[in-house]
Amino acid sequence: MSDKPRVLSLAQPTADSLHIGNYLGALRQWPGLQDQYEAFYGVADLHALTVEVEPAVLRKRSLASAAQLIAAGVDPERSAVFLQSHVPEHTQLMWVLTCLTGFGHASRMTQFKDKTSKHGVDAANVGLFNYPILMAADILLYNADRVPVGEDQRQHLELTRDLAHRFNTRYSPTFTLPEPHIVKSVGKIKDLQDPTVKMSKSSSSPNGVVDLLDDPKLNAKKFRSAVTDSGRDITFDEVNKPGVANLLTLLAAFTGRPVETLVEEFGGKGYGDLKGAVADAAGAEITPFRERTLELLGEKTELEAILAAGAEKARAVASRTVAKVYRKVGLVPRG
Ligand code: TRP
Repeated sequence: MSDKPRVLSLAQPTADSLHIGNYLGALRQWPGLQDQYEAFYGVADLHALTVEVEPAVLRKRSLASAAQLIAAGVDPERSAVFLQSHVPEHTQLMWVLTCLTGFGHASRMTQFKDKTSKHGVDAANVGLFNYPILMAADILLYNADRVPVGEDQRQHLELTRDLAHRFNTRYSPTFTLPEPHIVKSVGKIKDLQDPTVKMSKSSSSPNGVVDLLDDPKLNAKKFRSAVTDSGRDITFDEVNKPGVANLLTLLAAFTGRPVETLVEEFGGKGYGDLKGAVADAAGAEITPFRERTLELLGEKTELEAILAAGAEKARAVASRTVAKVYRKVGLVPRG
């Protein structure tokens, strides 16, 4: 085993393709952490069951998500790449953590609260209620030090730290308190057609969302027809010029250059130039990503073998944690 600190994150397989918002906000940070950390990267297929989904669709999306992690640069030789459901310890630890979570606390978690306050308690299942506790189990199983996630996951990380602390004080020091790893500057990619709202697959206009696995030509067109603001100047002003600000954020993310430099460079140029630059920079990164993903999905047996090996690696750690936890809470070890 390595003595490096650990990093862990899971991606929910809720769509056939990641969009650039998910990608830039979270997944893109994952590969870069593999040098300094021992990495565990997975697909949260159990979390995906909290909303009703066709079995065939879930299967397809789970494999597509795994392929996209690898295409993004997660290296299965160095990191454990796995499906959550292949590591039964996730649900085993979840039960113990469920029994440490106050009903009130779980009820106040925003995801559950938002859904039930909008659509009533019957709109959610108990799985959705338990969702953050399963996520805490995902993280604590591996004693992860760092968890790269999007800004929207901060509350879940807080619950995780809370549960770790509660367990550690009630029983004995066991769990590492994880730190979120949130990239601020690209935390919020906005919809291309409505730059006042976050890019999301539930967006009203499909042209506002760029899916990584879509045809590169279609995507270039979406960037080029992004909604901009009145006026002509290219300045970074999220309140008065959210469209231009979003394009600058995207260009900065895809080129690795600071927004200020870009603003200077685009002084005197028009919105069309900026959109074209975003389309080119995004295309240069997304096109090879897409090809690699499709290639992996074309070699299904190989992909499944990678995931089986990843699950083995993960279980080697996870099973020790569960054994320790079961013993500490007073469950009798099987003789
Ligand atoms: N809830 C996370 C999301 O929607 C996905 C997730 C599940 C996760 N388990 C995790 C993220 C553990 C980090 C660590 O993005």
